[in-house]
Amino acid sequence: MRLIVGMSGASGAILGYEALKALRDVPGLETHLILTEGAAQTLRYETALRPEDLAALASVVHENENLAASIASGSFPTDGMIVIPCSMKTLAGIVSGYAENLLLRAADVCLKEGRRLVLVPRETPLSPLHLRNLKEAADLGCRIVPPMMTFYNGADTVGKMIQCIVGKVLSQFGLPYAPFVPWQGKD
Ligand SMILES: Cc1cc2nc3c(=O)[nH]c(=O)nc-3n(C[C@H](O)[C@H](O)[C@H](O)COP(=O)(O)O)c2cc1C
Repeated sequence: MRLIVGMSGASGAILGYEALKALRDVPGLETHLILTEGAAQTLRYETALRPEDLAALASVVHENENLAASIASGSFPTDGMIVIPCSMKTLAGIVSGYAENLLLRAADVCLKEGRRLVLVPRETPLSPLHLRNLKEAADLGCRIVPPMMTFYNGADTVGKMIQCIVGKVLSQFGLPYAPFVPWQGKD
């Protein structure tokens, strides 16, 4: 299995890091990482992590400017892409087909090839424009998995809530994630 992970400059760089850590532990999974300049900036402001720490978790790392990368072409098979976190700018680029960097081009390729594209959009409050673009993305077939807080399964720390979000994202590809505690039901 081969997945593309795009990280853009919305708040929540830690989400991308935790998703990459989870994906690294999936046997037989190859990950291709793209980091926008905005993502490098939020990583610096929000965490003590460096881009190299993210790169160490991925199988392959691509420069966002390299539109000749393997994943820029539909003839390079992948099982889809996760954009985590997804900024409103990157969301706008995806829904308009404005593929001016590798992250946007890889997402465009997923759409044109009918491959799963999972967006983890982060902004608050959401403007009508953001909501319109999210609806457009959903209509185009994207799975929209916003990083919502979770309370129903005993997630009482930010770390556990992040695990819930990562679990939800991985489940879009049928991938298990042990720390994620699904709802067991109540009688
Ligand atoms: C600390 C910080 C937090 C930000 N948080 C968000 C956010 O939550 N959502 C968002 O859409 N943009 C956010 N931005 C703005 C984006 O980084 C900016 O629009 C950038 O151009 C996005 O580019 P990219 O999508 O190519 O990464 C933030 C910027 C900074 C510096």
